[in-house]
Amino acid sequence: MNERKKVTIRTLYDKAAKGEPISWLTCYDYPTAYFQEEAGVDMILVGDSLGMTMLGYDGTLPVTMNDMIRHTQAVRRGAPNVFLVGDMPYMSYQPSNETAIRNAGRFMAEANCDAIKLEGGGEMADRIHAIKQAGIPAIGHLGLTPQSVAALGGFRVQGRGALQAKQIMDDAKTLEEAGAVAILLEMVPDRVTKMITERTDNCLILSLGSGPEAHGQLLIYHDMFGLYPKFKPRMAKVFGNAGEVILNGLKQYVTEVGSKEFPQPENWFTIKDEEYNELKGLLED
Ligand code: KIV
Repeated sequence: MNERKKVTIRTLYDKAAKGEPISWLTCYDYPTAYFQEEAGVDMILVGDSLGMTMLGYDGTLPVTMNDMIRHTQAVRRGAPNVFLVGDMPYMSYQPSNETAIRNAGRFMAEANCDAIKLEGGGEMADRIHAIKQAGIPAIGHLGLTPQSVAALGGFRVQGRGALQAKQIMDDAKTLEEAGAVAILLEMVPDRVTKMITERTDNCLILSLGSGPEAHGQLLIYHDMFGLYPKFKPRMAKVFGNAGEVILNGLKQYVTEVGSKEFPQPENWFTIKDEEYNELKGLLED
């Protein structure tokens, strides 16, 4: 394994200060984490999108803290030096500050995370502040927030109207003042992202489909490699069609088993003649 220095919040702030964009990807399992670490990805988000990408639900709401912890632990084993962010699932922080601190603490203690992320605007400032006071770095999430997709009227760009854009800008300022170490903007128009980035002093702004004028970019791993069969969001760039490679390989496997082309001698193990003959002798006794 390619040993690299641990990525810390300081590493990320230093990159931002030098104008070097931060790379951030979702990840939910050990082998993918291993490859992401090898590739030099700065940050990993174990998103509650695992409800869809890994568990086959239609949305993120059924995902539990135990689901999140199990996957986050696997990711940390694969990527020991990445800046690891645990995504707070539905109702793990909304009820109260105490619930939020307790569950954020589980990500830190049980999965060795570097930060947690939670969705919501100014109404979540109190939660961000409480988590920060507990010594846990917290990342906000504005714009399209999948846990509130019903209230937002579907998966659509947020902040296209001036009033809504102003609200997102106000929310970003409120979360920064509450102590968020970073804010993810999802599906926010590029020029709104630029204004938010220019107006924040102590907080990283990260973009998912929100344009280049942020301190870094996030992509959903499954969208990058054609691994989510149900749809591909417009904003996602496909860097390789692993889904197609896997499907073709699987079809070939089925064909080769059927035609007895698989297995070949290199795919099985043998027993020495003397042991085999002794075995036959044992059976004859
Ligand atoms: O769960 C997730 O992967 C997320 C992204 C959509 C930002 O929160």
